[in-house]
Amino acid sequence: MATVGRNAAARDAVRADSERHADAHSIVDGRGRRIDHLRLSVTSSCNLRCCYCCPAAGLRARSAELSDRQRLDLVTFLWRDRGLRQLRLTGGEPLLHPSSAAFIGDIRTAAPDLSIAMTTNGGRLAGCARELRAAGLDRLNISFDAIDGPRYRAMTGGRVEDVIAGIDVARALGFESVKLNTVVIAGQNDDQVVELAEWSLRRGLEIRFLEAMPIGPAAEFNRAHFVPARRIREILESRFRLSLLPRRFGETAVRYLADGDDARGTIGIIAPISESFCGQCRRMRITADGKLFPCLLDSRCVDLAACWTGGQFDSGRAGALLEQAVDGKRAAGPLRQPVAMVTLGG
Ligand code: 5AD
Ligand code: SF4
Repeated sequence: MATVGRNAAARDAVRADSERHADAHSIVDGRGRRIDHLRLSVTSSCNLRCCYCCPAAGLRARSAELSDRQRLDLVTFLWRDRGLRQLRLTGGEPLLHPSSAAFIGDIRTAAPDLSIAMTTNGGRLAGCARELRAAGLDRLNISFDAIDGPRYRAMTGGRVEDVIAGIDVARALGFESVKLNTVVIAGQNDDQVVELAEWSLRRGLEIRFLEAMPIGPAAEFNRAHFVPARRIREILESRFRLSLLPRRFGETAVRYLADGDDARGTIGIIAPISESFCGQCRRMRITADGKLFPCLLDSRCVDLAACWTGGQFDSGRAGALLEQAVDGKRAAGPLRQPVAMVTLGG
């Protein structure tokens, strides 16, 4: 017994030590928030033109994008030395990256226990979901703004059949989670909310309804067509009984167990504007061209392109730039963001 006790004590000591080690090296911002989630954009190209993201006009010319090698340098450094726990690949549309599965495979090899997720518009997902899963992708979020074909086309320019095909393929592949995201826009899809929820719950999928953020060229449009969380909840309550689920730390969605007799399951509401969750923020994001934005709703950023000299990654320089960026991360997003979401990543 005594030996078992000693072994357990030794194990606990090792665990405490490794946690202290993680604490000592993890990224903590000026407000004491531990930043351990990274959203990494792998391309600023997109095959859609969602009305709340990037209306056809007004996109700026792109600057040179990072290479996959450079992105891998950054992710490996953040995971090995700075306590990174979750990576989400975004775009633009990440599946326009020419070899996203190969890139995921490289990350999986370099960082075996890093949780890897992707946010996609789903239009090209059906043909590559299997390959992504096999390469090591753990979780998927798929944008699904309307179920009615003409309505979906009007909002995004895409074909809803393609997205539905992608969702159906993904569901069968054993991802840790497949979630759907709907940005609610007055007069465009607020009358689709109940139908989208029913459709998702019947398939055992969690759907989250998002308030539109006033970002980039769509800022004015989103302000004018804003639907607050309170209204989204009312719409859902016209069809489902909602019981609040406990909120997990750092989670953006307020989640409900929805019961509509013939359809039950989890629905989330993400309300960055009317019920801000900045106090629990643990995210930073890197654009396809290497700008590190510590806050989605703040235009300040640092340029990580300076981390390589003659192709060699300089982790000291990366660490210094990282500290500089997160130190200035404000308590709450100041709602000043001229850069388009298609560039920032969702
Ligand atoms: N407000 C809220 N969500 C947005 N997304 C894109 N632009 C906005 C915005 N202005 C969402 C997309 C997708 C992810 C990439 O971000 O719908 O779910
Ligand atoms: Fe739509 Fe995402 Fe493309 Fe923006 S980046 S247009 S939100 S699919």
